[in-house]
Amino acid sequence: MTDIKVISEKLCTTGDITRDEIIYLLENRTPGIQKTLAEKASARAREYYGNKVFVRGLIEFTNYCRNDCYYCGIRCGNKNAQRYRLSIDEIVECASYGYGLGFRTIVLQGGEDQFFTDDKMTEIIRAIKREHPDCAVTLSIGEKSYETYKAFFDAGADRYLLRHETADFGHYAKLHPANLSAENRQRCLFDLKKIGFQTGAGFMVGSPYQTNENIADDLLFLKKLDPEMVGIGPFIPHKDTVFADRKAGELDLVLYLLSIIRLMLPTVLLPATTALGTIDPRGRELGILAGANVVMPNLSPVGVRKKYDLYDNKICTGEEAAECMNCLKSRISRIGYEIVTDRGDNIKYVKEH
Ligand code: 5AD
Ligand code: FES
Repeated sequence: MTDIKVISEKLCTTGDITRDEIIYLLENRTPGIQKTLAEKASARAREYYGNKVFVRGLIEFTNYCRNDCYYCGIRCGNKNAQRYRLSIDEIVECASYGYGLGFRTIVLQGGEDQFFTDDKMTEIIRAIKREHPDCAVTLSIGEKSYETYKAFFDAGADRYLLRHETADFGHYAKLHPANLSAENRQRCLFDLKKIGFQTGAGFMVGSPYQTNENIADDLLFLKKLDPEMVGIGPFIPHKDTVFADRKAGELDLVLYLLSIIRLMLPTVLLPATTALGTIDPRGRELGILAGANVVMPNLSPVGVRKKYDLYDNKICTGEEAAECMNCLKSRISRIGYEIVTDRGDNIKYVKEH
């Protein structure tokens, strides 16, 4: 096997890496190599985006979900979850409030809630775009048909987040009930790209049963899909799920993978996630220093924050959006970066479209 320096050099200069090489990097991770990759990755991000960090205002508009993913706190089988839905007016007001705070991307995230029909969703998308034409609208509402995705796109939605969760079909089956499949998940992602969405995929780090081989396949899946956005964060157990007693994903492994992903997909929009900030108080800052360039604070009304409870001990559930914006601005500026009022599109996508 080639030396680790050779692998990381090749990755840094070409963005290419094989399955065996990823596994080798994972098995031979040291603080030294981690530091080298973080420096190279953050330099690569700065090459394209300078010291800018993009913000996305996240509106968690419903925690009703028809699915029963074993890891997720809002799974339909969790009878302890207090369910809520924001009204269409509340969602649009929330977006306008975010606009006033400087957000130029609004992310509408929710469980797979049948109440929000295609007509209701397109109405919401149109209303936000009508009031704020300079704002990007990102959806994160799960698996739909090609036709539905197309209707969302035609209504003005710009981006879509749908983590693939794990590329390995066997591993996928260990994390989800039998009615959900990795195959359909991946079909959705290719449909989204074909329609023209800036598309985001991703996975949890340290999810139950995950192996280094699984992670290698996840990274190669990302390389093949070539998404504009990638979301990764640590798995964190939730008390009312099948995986309540599992341990959380490791900070350093998430950071290492952020660096590798940045080097594999140089222009990718890569958030330092709330889950990363939950497992370590400086998680999001460390994520930026490892190559991430996006943060996604919560815009949902404080009254419902705690109820969008995907995993235990989630941060920022008591703070108003304006407080999080200020907090993030100072955190980011302390590490030499700057939060900007900008749509923050993937520059490769902008050039190609
Ligand atoms: N820990 C960390 N991330 C989780 N997600 C769902 N449940 C958990 C958990 N327990 C992630 C999934 C999903 C995204 C919205 O949140 O990857 O795609
Ligand atoms: Fe919410 Fe710091 S980002 S309190």
